[in-house]
Formats: sequence, C-alpha cells, structure tokens
Amino acid sequence: MVIVEQISEMQRWSDAERRQGRRIALVPTMGALHEGHLSLVRDGKMRGDRVVVSLFVNPTQFAPQEDFAGYPRDFERDRRLLDAEGTDVLFHPAPQEMYPEGFDAEIEIRDLSAPLCGAVRPGHFKGVATVVAKLFNIVRPHVAIFGCKDYQQLQIIRRLVRDLNFDVEIIGHPTVREPDGLAMSSRNAYLNSEERKAALCLYRSLRHAEEMVGCGERRGAAIVAGARAEIAREASARIDYVSLCDPESLREIDLVQDAVLLALAVRIGKARLIDNMILKP
Ligand code: PAJ
Repeated sequence: MVIVEQISEMQRWSDAERRQGRRIALVPTMGALHEGHLSLVRDGKMRGDRVVVSLFVNPTQFAPQEDFAGYPRDFERDRRLLDAEGTDVLFHPAPQEMYPEGFDAEIEIRDLSAPLCGAVRPGHFKGVATVVAKLFNIVRPHVAIFGCKDYQQLQIIRRLVRDLNFDVEIIGHPTVREPDGLAMSSRNAYLNSEERKAALCLYRSLRHAEEMVGCGERRGAAIVAGARAEIAREASARIDYVSLCDPESLREIDLVQDAVLLALAVRIGKARLIDNMILKP
C-alpha cells in the first residue's frame, strides 16, 4: 500500500492508472476505522481495479464546540487495517495541504442540508460537500462508496454529483451493525459500558417503528411517537431528533404511502449517535 500525502502526487497516480484503463474506487473516511469502513473498502475493491482510501479528519465539518480535537485518531492501526484489506493507496493529507492559507471556497447543497442533522449542526454539510468535492478532484475516482448510516450525507453527495456534473458513480453501502444491532461508528468509542447498553435504544426504536408499519400503522405522528417512546425508556438518552421523511427530498411526511426514511439522532453521554432505517408499507 502506498501512502500519499501530497495532492499533486495523488493526481499523478490517478491519471497514470486512468491512462492504463483502470477503474478507480474511492472510500473517503476520517479514520478510527471499524468494520463498517472496512466493508466499504471491500465493496470498493469489487467495484474498481484500484481502491484509494482517504483518511482526513476534516476540520471544516466540525463546529467550534464539537469533537474535532477529541475525535479518535490512531493512524498506525488504521494503516495496518487498510493494508490488510489490500488497499492500493492511502491518501492522508495534512490540513494545510487541503486548506492552505487563503482557502476561500465553499459548496452548499441548500435544501437537503436544512433538516435533520443540518438543523442541529449548522455548516456541517457545507464542510462535507466541500471536502468531498475536493477529494473527487484530487483522486479522480470512477466510483465512490459511502455508508447509508450517514443517510443525509449520502443524499447530499448524490446531489453534489448531479448538480455539479462530477463524473463519479455514487454507491450507498448498507449500514454495518454490531451483533446486537448497534450501528458501527467511530463515536461508539466515547461510550462506557453502561452507555453502550443504553445506545441499543436507537436500533430498538427503529425496529419498533418498523413493526408498527408492518402492523398497518400509516400515521407519521403515531410512528414518530412510538419511536420516541422506545428511546425515552433509556433515562440517559437525549433525543436530538426523530424524523419520518421522504427518502429523496428528506421532507417530513404525515402519511406512509411509499417507502419512508426514519432518521434518529440521540445523545448518550458525550456521544451523539445517528441511525436510520427505510420503512416500507
Ligand atoms: P466517517 O465518519 O469516517 O465515515 C466514512 C464512511 O464510512 C462514510 O461514508 C460513512 O457513512 C461510512 N460508515 C460509517 N459507519 C458505517 C457503518 N456502520 N456502516 C456502513 N458505513 C459506515 O463520513 C465521514 O467520515 C466524513 O463525513 C467524510 C465523508 C469522510 C467527509 O469528511
């Protein structure tokens, strides 16, 4: 596995691979890798002749009071894991390489960034859209793989590609879960053992809502109330939002007629956890 830190070197590598007719898959990450990330890498290996993983804890997607400084970092471990998966290039730029003095660009996907996490994390998705656009121009992939765990992020990237004509195929990879159902996340590292048990309320809430829809419930308010009640059974859980919305527009819906997205953000201890499920009538 080659480790590349310079943008110009990454572009040269990708251009050479492209000239030889090879298909490049990109998996963007912020490191602190877990099985979810590695599952994306394996998906990338199947879809491309070469797989590039970027590891960059992107400062512009964290608000000042958020966990940028404390975000888990273990480069040696991540490097070993990616090497073992057969990653071809680990792109690992320094912050000054990505955002040199005078950097002044920003990409905003307006409507899709307004609800859900966008409402509680202002500026977050501008940071995400901008860094992902940069990564597409640096790595020049044919295909890029993102997790459905971050559903709103995935939709925003699909729109970025469509509206700005990036020639990149976007793949949404299913959420990888622990055996008990907790969605894997780098932020699960913030949970102590009590909180780890409490964190199961997200998955329980989603499953409960799925059952309600399975039993014929179609009223959005009733489904959201059922999902909230399931989370409220955990005294330590603080709900950021529980939202039932259209999977494309992310606008809230009142009545389940087609597939809908149930999206949750819940604080447990110092971790803010998100999860979601598509519910089908
Ligand atoms: P990060 O949180 O490191 O996630 C990197 C990728 O892994 C994202 O596409 C995310 O959706 C996916 N992922 C995380 N947990 C997953 C799980 N349990 N199952 C499936 N996929 C999972 O998301 C980011 O980094 C950043 O915002 C980034 C896109 C890299 C831009 O900075």
